[in-house]
Amino acid sequence: MPVILGIESSCDETSAAICVDGAILSNVIANQTIHAAYGGVVPELASRVHQLNIIPTVQQALINAKVNKNDIDAVAFTRGPGLLGSLLVGVSFAKAFALAQNLPLIEVNHMQAHVLAHFIDEHKPNFPFLCLTVSGGHTQIVLVKNYFDMEIIGQTTDDAAGEALDKTSKILGLPYPGGPMIDKYARSGNADAFKFPEPNIPDYNFSFSGLKTSILYFIRDNVAKDPLFLQNRINDICASVEKRVTTILLNKLKKAAQAYQIKDIALAGGVSANTGLREGLKTLGEQMSWNTFIPKFEYCTDNAAMIAIAGYYKFLNNDFVGQNVAPLARMPF
Ligand code: KG4
Ligand code: ZN
Repeated sequence: MPVILGIESSCDETSAAICVDGAILSNVIANQTIHAAYGGVVPELASRVHQLNIIPTVQQALINAKVNKNDIDAVAFTRGPGLLGSLLVGVSFAKAFALAQNLPLIEVNHMQAHVLAHFIDEHKPNFPFLCLTVSGGHTQIVLVKNYFDMEIIGQTTDDAAGEALDKTSKILGLPYPGGPMIDKYARSGNADAFKFPEPNIPDYNFSFSGLKTSILYFIRDNVAKDPLFLQNRINDICASVEKRVTTILLNKLKKAAQAYQIKDIALAGGVSANTGLREGLKTLGEQMSWNTFIPKFEYCTDNAAMIAIAGYYKFLNNDFVGQNVAPLARMPF
């Protein structure tokens, strides 16, 4: 019955979770609202707020799980990829806690943890499956052969999907964070109102920078003709952008699924919280007779439950690291 404490601090969410024998008993997430005023995450501020939040977040996770700190068997933490200053807080906390409690340490790759979020609840995918991992910093199609045997078969050559949505939202003058705002406005818009281009990129790779530029010019030209364009058409613009991002992602996923002849198809990462993408995957899955897997909303965006579950599987493999571990802003898969 291993009890794992999971720690996540790679970007702007401080999170702690308790996993007991593969079941998540608590998952506390402290969001950082300070960045809204700057229109994006300010790395130095993020690390300072992690520093303030880390201890109360862990304490709350223990209280919610009704677990005593002396019952913990191992500490799993995000080693990377992420913002270095943010990672340092979680890694340093994990090391200090493990040293004080004489516990083993488990390093976790944040992107692999997004994939492993599918093993938190029942209705788990079967190996091998494909996972489209879409976040603010990454866009990947991952061939998941086993818990820690994963291969990136396609990825973005420039911006990530979440980054494209966040930048579009900035162009539209919407508040940060942009992805959820686009989702919100898109719900009452016409997704066929405007047509944005689909890039022609080989294999299973993606590109979103051209889309971002075309949106920028589209808005500039239309606002020049009609100063109220943005105000009057914001819902239709958001719905059309969301539709294009969704079709870019799903067309590549379909291509990969056909080539690899895989029918278990999963979605992960912050952008998998997007309503249009979730519905799009469900519809495509029905057409293609796929078994589709979409995590619960709280396990889509950054959270420590996914770190704790990854830690649990590593614990079973006796896969530990020493106290000389340091964070990696770019961590190989
Ligand atoms: O995985 P995540 O929480 O952090 C990273 O590892 O980057 O992903 C954050 C990204 C942001 O770009 C955010 O705008 C996007 O996920 N996002 C959404 C939604 N919720 C979060 N994008 C579209 N629709 C949403 N509902
Ligand atoms: Zn993430």
